[in-house]
Amino acid sequence: MKNGVVKKLTAVILLASLCLSGCEKKEEEKTSIKVGVTVYDSHDTFISELMGDFNELVTKKAYESGVAISVEVMNAGWNQSTQNSNVEDMIDNGCDILCVNLVDRTAPTAIIDIARQKNVPIIFFNREPVEGDLDRWDHLYYVGTDARQSGAMQGEIAAEAFTKHPEYDRNGNGEIEYVMIEGESGHQDAIVRTEVSISKLADSGFKVKKLQSAIGNWLRPQAFTKMEQIIAEYGDEIELVMANNDDMALGAIDAYNSAKIPLEKRPVIIGIDGTDAGVVAVKNKEMYGTVFNDTKGQAEAMVDLIYAESVLGNTSGIDFSEDRVIRVPHSKIVGE
Ligand code: GAL
Repeated sequence: MKNGVVKKLTAVILLASLCLSGCEKKEEEKTSIKVGVTVYDSHDTFISELMGDFNELVTKKAYESGVAISVEVMNAGWNQSTQNSNVEDMIDNGCDILCVNLVDRTAPTAIIDIARQKNVPIIFFNREPVEGDLDRWDHLYYVGTDARQSGAMQGEIAAEAFTKHPEYDRNGNGEIEYVMIEGESGHQDAIVRTEVSISKLADSGFKVKKLQSAIGNWLRPQAFTKMEQIIAEYGDEIELVMANNDDMALGAIDAYNSAKIPLEKRPVIIGIDGTDAGVVAVKNKEMYGTVFNDTKGQAEAMVDLIYAESVLGNTSGIDFSEDRVIRVPHSKIVGE
């Protein structure tokens, strides 16, 4: 009887040690991983440029490390419940880690719950979860930027334009009459850029007066339509157009082109992102300047984090800006 118990116990211990060594093996470096990515809108210019850099850097990392990294990308098409299904599908498809560009940054609960339950880490990117959400599990990360910095730099570019060129105050009344084209309401970048860009310009000693603001949802055609109406209403009273991103600044330029207003009669137009088309517009002097939202830097941070979390099983080598958050710095791009 006693012997039987000992035998059983030995078997249990043996099994436990087998399982332990099995578990240890799992934590060793992997030779292949699968990454699932879901984006809020794959047609967004900035996001598609970011994904282009991401794919290149994944290929480079795989080549340099010898780890096979496969990537599956899904488009949520502005729909949070579609994105929740994207996440379930990618976990079912065997993804080891997910990169999530939230549709609704206030609604990550369902995604966090399922990922946690299935033990699949998440890197949120570009659309920042609200405070406290990342604290819900230690395998949740965020890669993005500091929205205040982008707004401040946009304000600095405007201040520099009006300091170097006092004649840009077309009516010479000592006040800058401006139009603000805003991104999606509720998006951290839209809220903060709108506020900080103008307060920076005012803090630099300029009097400012808002003529009109309009929401363009990051989209060039929407900004074009809104700007057409604003030009019709305010004409050459407009001295400055601040757009929360380059695509909307380009929409404003489209409206000036369609109204056949020559370059020298247009206001100062400033964007944010430094997309390929945005930089061309700066070179052509259609846009005075833009703030570079570093796609390569953000893609690199995501790839490094994926590798650390899913291959090495250890993120101690990552230089976090805050707890499990990486913020990539912006820089200014000015034609002059
Ligand atoms: C911002 C970017 C916008 C748009 C948005 C989407 O950071 O400046 O152009 O891509 O993210 O979340």
